[in-house]
Parts: sequence; structure tokens; C-alpha cells
Amino acid sequence: MMETPLPELEAILLVGGQGTRLRPLTLGTPKPLLPTAGVPFLAHQLARARSFGVRRIVFATSYRAEMFSEAFGDGSAFGLSLEYMTEETPLGTGGAIRNAADALTCGPDAPVLVLNGDILSGHDIGDQVARHTARQAAVTLHLTEVEDPSRFGCVPTDEDGRVTAFLEKTPNPVTNRINAGCYVFTRSVIDTIPAGEVVSVERETFPGLIEDGALVLGYADASYWLDVGTPGAFVQGSRDLVLGRLASPALPGPTGDLLALPGAVVDAGAKVDGGSVVGARAVVEAGAQVSGSVLGDDCVIRAGASVTDSVVGIGARIEPGAVLRDVVVGDGAVVGPGNELLAGSRVWPGIVLPECAIRFSSDR
Ligand code: GTP
Repeated sequence: MMETPLPELEAILLVGGQGTRLRPLTLGTPKPLLPTAGVPFLAHQLARARSFGVRRIVFATSYRAEMFSEAFGDGSAFGLSLEYMTEETPLGTGGAIRNAADALTCGPDAPVLVLNGDILSGHDIGDQVARHTARQAAVTLHLTEVEDPSRFGCVPTDEDGRVTAFLEKTPNPVTNRINAGCYVFTRSVIDTIPAGEVVSVERETFPGLIEDGALVLGYADASYWLDVGTPGAFVQGSRDLVLGRLASPALPGPTGDLLALPGAVVDAGAKVDGGSVVGARAVVEAGAQVSGSVLGDDCVIRAGASVTDSVVGIGARIEPGAVLRDVVVGDGAVVGPGNELLAGSRVWPGIVLPECAIRFSSDR
């Protein structure tokens, strides 16, 4: 696909959320910084924005704000200029955009790109901005189609692409098109959001603009898209990047079945595949099976353990014969021999599960 290069453009990155659905992974690390395909999640977004010509990005931070500047600094290592605007108390998505806008340098008519910090998207950002500018829209929303729109903002449009309603998390969605979490705002429209107040763009700003007759445009496409807000989606995102289903300039190695970080030891008798990441200095012993999973730095998967579609935290240990499927194991936790943890199980950091403490039974 030809991608559209952009003239100079500033962006705001929303990264202040608590990531409650990803606990315990997000207890110590904000969602956008979780290691994903070998680097902090945001590294993929930053590299992608840069590939479209974005050079200056304002981070809208709140939860564990200092960790973002520690990770990315002034941005020069990434070929970007980065600013950080922190909310003392979270202001919601709209309040955060308004607060971050104080650090923008562009004029009132300029387009400003706004990105949710938990989305992987392959869409053509340059084309979205070009459409916004050509139609002189107030806001242009990237839209994607999902099978079950009820967990998202449902966004019907007319035949000209004008958004006719914005229905956040409705039980009876009227279309499968949803808000994909990437917006182009005309700068002056951001300035109409009240300053210093908690505002949701999804519940207040977008419905309000539509009601006032402003041109809110939909930019619908069918390229790769994933919201990594849940453990299952987070693991899928990492897997897709490692397998090359979504190209990322930030991937620290070739695409393939397995990404092994420096110092990782995978025994020749182990089976690791399905786009798994093996963290730095992590060990996978002979006879262990790992598929489609994210293994943190310094963790150990012992002989005969089986880990599928799961996250294993930093320094965690999975003992012989343990079976994990769709599971999150917190940092430093130990899953003792013979435990069977299935879909949705979450082991809190530092917890030690003794031998065969949890077994699955099909007898009900
Ligand atoms: P959950 O708690 O699991 O729903 O995750 P979340 O806190 O990230 O919330 P959600 O997925 O709805 O947020 C969408 C995007 O907006 C994410 O990138 C969040 O980091 C960001 N975000 C949400 N609320 C705020 C806020 O009050 N301030 C800032 N700066 N960003 C926010």
C-alpha cells in the first residue's frame, strides 16, 4: 500500500490511563510501556508516527507519569522531539487532550494528530490527515470494523462519510464500525474543550460537536487494527508484530516464529513458536513448549511445562509439568509443578503456587 507522506505535523499521545483490565501487569508499569515484541509498546507507535513524518509529540501523562520520560527522554534517540504534559489528577481523554495542547506550537487551523496509547494500527495516517484537511473537518475519526462493537464506541456515518452519531459502548450497536482511537483535530476545536476539567471525548466532545452541526468525519478502512487493552489482545499484539502480521520499524530483530532477546537461552529440545518472545536472559528448558506467548526478562520455563497465549512476568518461574493457557503470571511469581491454569487466570506478582495447587477438571 502506498502511504501518504505528511507536511509537518504535531501529535498528542494519550497515555495517562491506569490500564485496569491488564492488571497485574499494569500495577508497576503503565500499559503503553509494557514490553511488546521486545520493546515498550509505545516504541512501535512512535516509530510508525515517525514514518508518516510526525516529528513532535506531546505525551498526555497521568498514571506513573515519570516512567514515560525515563523511557523516552527528549525523543532524540527515536528521531523525535518529545514533550510531557502531566495531569495531577486524570482529566479523561478530552481533558488530557486540552491540557496537552498547551505544549503545541501550531496555529489554530493546523491539523493535530491524537493517538490512544494502546492501539496497534496499520492504517495510512497521512491519508487520514489529507482527507481531514481536504474536507476542512472539525475532527476526523479513524474507524474500523469489529465483530462485536458493543465494547467500543459505535460510529455510524452517512454516504459522504459524515459521522451522524457517536454511541459509546452501547448494547445495541447500529453498525460494526467503531472508533479506532486515532483522531485528527483542527487545533482550534481542541481549544473549545474546557480547560482543567474532566472531559471524555467519546462521551462529551464528539457527541457535542455532532449535535452542534460541526463536520465530524469518519475515515473508515480495513487495515490491521488491534486495541491491546485486555491480556488476550495484548498477547495477540505482541505475537502479530513478531510474526510480521503488522510491520513495525521498532521490532528489535527479524520477523518469525520466535523473537529471542539478548542472553535468552532456548534449549534445543524445547519448542518455542507462534510469534513468542523470550525475554533477556530468560531460560526455556528442554521439553518445555511455548506458543504465542510473551516471556519476561529473567523468567524460567522448566522442563515439560507448557505455556500457550500467555504472559509470564519478569523473573517468574513455571515449574515442570505446569500448563498455562491464556494466563497472566505476575513478576517474580512461581507456578509450582503440575498446576493447570486456564483461560483468564491471573497470578499476582510474587505469589508462589505450590505443587498441583490448581488442577482443571472437566467433571462438573
Ligand atoms: P482500562 O482501565 O483497562 O480501561 O485502560 P485505560 O486506563 O488505558 O483506559 P482506556 O483504554 O479507555 O483509555 C484509552 C486511552 O486514553 C489510553 O491510551 C489511556 O492511556 C488514555 N487515557 C484514558 N484516560 C486518560 C486520562 O484521564 N488522562 C490521560 N492523559 N490519558 C487517558
